[in-house]
Amino acid sequence: NLRNLGNGHGRESALQLFVQAKKRINDIFKDIGDYVTEVDTFVKGVVAKGKGGEEEIISPQNAEVVEGFKAKIDGIREVLSRDHMKVVFFGRTSNGKSTVINAMLREKILPSGIGHTTNCFIQVEGSDNEEASLLTEDSNQPKNIQSVKQLASALSSAKLKENALIRILWPKSKCRLLREDIIFLDSPGIDVSPDLDSWIDKHCLDADVFVLVANAESTLMQTEKNFFHKVSARLSKPNIFVLQNRWDVSEMEEDIDKVKQQHIDYNTQFLADQLQVVDRREAKDRVFFVSAREALVSRLHNDTGIPTPDRVLMPGFQARIFEFANFENKFEVCISKSAVKTKFEQHTDRGKSITCELRAAMEQVYTTSNELQEKQHQVQQERAHELDFLVKQLDLLTREVKEKIKVMVEDVERKVASALND
Ligand code: GTP
Ligand code: MG
Repeated sequence: NLRNLGNGHGRESALQLFVQAKKRINDIFKDIGDYVTEVDTFVKGVVAKGKGGEEEIISPQNAEVVEGFKAKIDGIREVLSRDHMKVVFFGRTSNGKSTVINAMLREKILPSGIGHTTNCFIQVEGSDNEEASLLTEDSNQPKNIQSVKQLASALSSAKLKENALIRILWPKSKCRLLREDIIFLDSPGIDVSPDLDSWIDKHCLDADVFVLVANAESTLMQTEKNFFHKVSARLSKPNIFVLQNRWDVSEMEEDIDKVKQQHIDYNTQFLADQLQVVDRREAKDRVFFVSAREALVSRLHNDTGIPTPDRVLMPGFQARIFEFANFENKFEVCISKSAVKTKFEQHTDRGKSITCELRAAMEQVYTTSNELQEKQHQVQQERAHELDFLVKQLDLLTREVKEKIKVMVEDVERKVASALND
């Protein structure tokens, strides 16, 4: 059924790279943690035994270092449990950012509509709860949300600053991408806010991928380009995808192939020549011509088993739905690779240095105890030597005394015999 193509079912997910790596690194840190606890117990035992003695096998500083590793490992495991892949969506207002996210999540989670709809940052993240809830920055008490309508009115009634963040905790059971640890961040149109720098500092520094949702009916705007120039200045080689959205509308126009080529040329120039985040060849895999509206409706119908009515899909929709799925494939490979590197590389380095320092501390214990053993051995040998000498002296002395007595006895015998004779 072509209407339901590109629905993301039945393929091995590239995101598993991140999910599995996170599990592996967590297991490794659990092992390091167990090892540190074992070493700490051992060290404490050695310190307790050595108290009051003259010889010190482990210095108090080294014992403290070992104990400190326990807290460090717990800290890393805590950060690790919160590590995830993060994708941020940007673009001018009404280009379809919220619709793209809904299509990827296969559910109408975010409010979308004509006009300026999203008026602050909205983050969608997975939750183990079966109920959806909402978290605002001013409280850590989640509020229940029953529907998109309710969410939309909650968002519009609250007086929110443009760079405020609202977190939607959505049941992981309902969505594969959330289950696989992706966090989606929707933003207000970049044309509505003048304060892009504070946006970047507050919301983008930990992003793994940026998706620019552009309107295919026009060329990339200067505000859109400026934003990515600013991002590029703060992050080295950010991963950027460009979605030429609303392609269902544009494709009806004349000379569409020419328009498409023009978009490809401009976007390649922007990504490869101006931003220099990819080379010209790779740039092809970063630009997609899609219709988020069609992707969303066809997926919603597909999931409820109702065929998508003809009138909601424009002619040629198959290619656009394919292209949307193609974007998702490339996006998933990119985000999982990038997140594994940026998120786990620093933990790996930390883990390596902790095990090295631990090893050095243990080596110090080993060398000191060897030196002490050697010293004791030497003292014992010296004592044995002295005893040996003493025995020999005694032996000599005994033999001398015996000889003297013999001579004396013989002398006495002789004297007695001569006296008797006389
Ligand atoms: P703001 O939150 O206001 O910045 O807008 P946004 O970028 O989130 O856009 P949103 O997803 O709210 O979409 C705006 C309008 O465009 C909605 O009515 C969507 O249904 C519609 N729309 C989104 N994507 C497409 C598309 O690919 N084709 C068509 N024809 N309409 C679309
Ligand atoms: Mg929006």
